[in-house]
Amino acid sequence: MSKLLRIGVLASGGGTNLQAIIDRCMDGSLAAEIAVVITNNPGAGALDRARSAGVPTLCINHRDFSQRHEFDGAVVKALQDAGVELVVLAGFMRIITQTFIDAFPERIINIHPALLPAFPGLHVQQQALDYGARFSGCTVHLVDGGVDTGPIIMQAVVPILADDDADTLAARILEQEHRIYPRAIQLIAEGRVHINGRQVKIDPDGVVETTALVNPAIAD
Ligand code: GAR
Repeated sequence: MSKLLRIGVLASGGGTNLQAIIDRCMDGSLAAEIAVVITNNPGAGALDRARSAGVPTLCINHRDFSQRHEFDGAVVKALQDAGVELVVLAGFMRIITQTFIDAFPERIINIHPALLPAFPGLHVQQQALDYGARFSGCTVHLVDGGVDTGPIIMQAVVPILADDDADTLAARILEQEHRIYPRAIQLIAEGRVHINGRQVKIDPDGVVETTALVNPAIAD
């Protein structure tokens, strides 16, 4: 078996993306090993999911630090101690500082529940509904110094339906998050993701480009 990519997953909430990553590691479709799961939230469901899977966990509570960069320093040290090669933000609700980014250059990725660059930030499913968008989705991107601004690796699109509210839309998006995040990590593990400024090139081997979507659909 080829070497597994050592990943560190940072999560603040329920951890369903973490679970999708655990599941893909277990079934062998993701050639990665979760070296550590770190949360800033002692009540995060992600902790239980990691423990059930036998994955090492750490809680580093941001409330124990007076400065953001001190919290980030502690997280960086924990990731380095665990020998992490790729940092995976999975519902991690803290903005990370440049010190963190510099410690893992082009090695931090995030998943965001909207089609960036539309709707960065928070409450983005409601933002997409309020705007009247016909589609939303999710984006896996590299983390840079901005809020949800880094180069885009992969996106999935879902329709916004007439009777959607933020919860039904979030659930439809989450289903796609669970598909694309492990896949994006696998492409990185295979060394097939190349970053050149804003452009992300993926070695084409086995990659199928997709087709147009229209909402409401056109019959012909
Ligand atoms: C996911 O929808 C993720 O995209 C979002 O938080 C949720 C976490 O769910 N992330 C952000 O909004 C980051 N700004 P999970 O804990 O069940 O994986």
